[in-house]
Amino acid sequence: MNNLVILKTIAEAQTFCRAQKSLGFVPTMGVLHNGHKTLVERSAKENSATVVSLFVNPTQFNDKSDFEKYPKTWDADLALVAEAGAQAVFSPNFADIYPDDYKFKLTESEFSKILCGAHRPGHFDGVLTIVLKLLNIISPTKAYFGEKDFQQLRLIEMMVEAFFLPTQIVRCPTIREQSGLAMSSRNTRLSLDGKKKAALIYESMNKFETPHDVKTYLSKNGFEIDYVEDIDNRRFAAAFLEGVRLIDNIKLGGS
Ligand code: PAF
Repeated sequence: MNNLVILKTIAEAQTFCRAQKSLGFVPTMGVLHNGHKTLVERSAKENSATVVSLFVNPTQFNDKSDFEKYPKTWDADLALVAEAGAQAVFSPNFADIYPDDYKFKLTESEFSKILCGAHRPGHFDGVLTIVLKLLNIISPTKAYFGEKDFQQLRLIEMMVEAFFLPTQIVRCPTIREQSGLAMSSRNTRLSLDGKKKAALIYESMNKFETPHDVKTYLSKNGFEIDYVEDIDNRRFAAAFLEGVRLIDNIKLGGS
């Protein structure tokens, strides 16, 4: 982990970030996997320095127990970040990030209300608020987000446009296990069998003609469905397996 700088306070982060020629930023909530690694590697290639934030953001958890159960793998995360080529990790505490105790929040009124937004009230308010705060603190040239959380990615792109933020948002393709399962920190909460079965989400999204058929297939296989919907040439799905909420999306009509 040689030379990885740990930035704890906002002042430390700002001093470090302002000294960089071009800065890439990868926001995360830790429990990092190969999907995150590819984001950091890409950022390291495209910028003179890269900062990764590790902050489990409580305001985006509509379910308190989901937040409490969220795993922490600090040492492994630092090792992955260093290996992927980042220079610094920003790991603030709640009081510093939310001096207003979340009295102020950012709300989008349309796209954030469907799909995950319809099933997780307040989730995207929390996501947009923390991402805006982090972009303001870090002020990166480019920030990297995975297409696995496509609704989140679109909302962040729209927020950046709406608020004239100078950062360029870079879309990165979903990284999958060999089985097709989209990599996610939540996969660590699945049993070995559950992890195998979870691959049926991607498989069925590709295989069946209609969202209805995907739902029927997944329900028969023991999933509890939140939604499967086709919107703007993209198929979105969210389903619970072994009490773990899994999401995925694919582009329709090839690729
Ligand atoms: O995708 C995530 O891990 C989180 O939603 C993010 C963007 C780091 C905000 O907390």
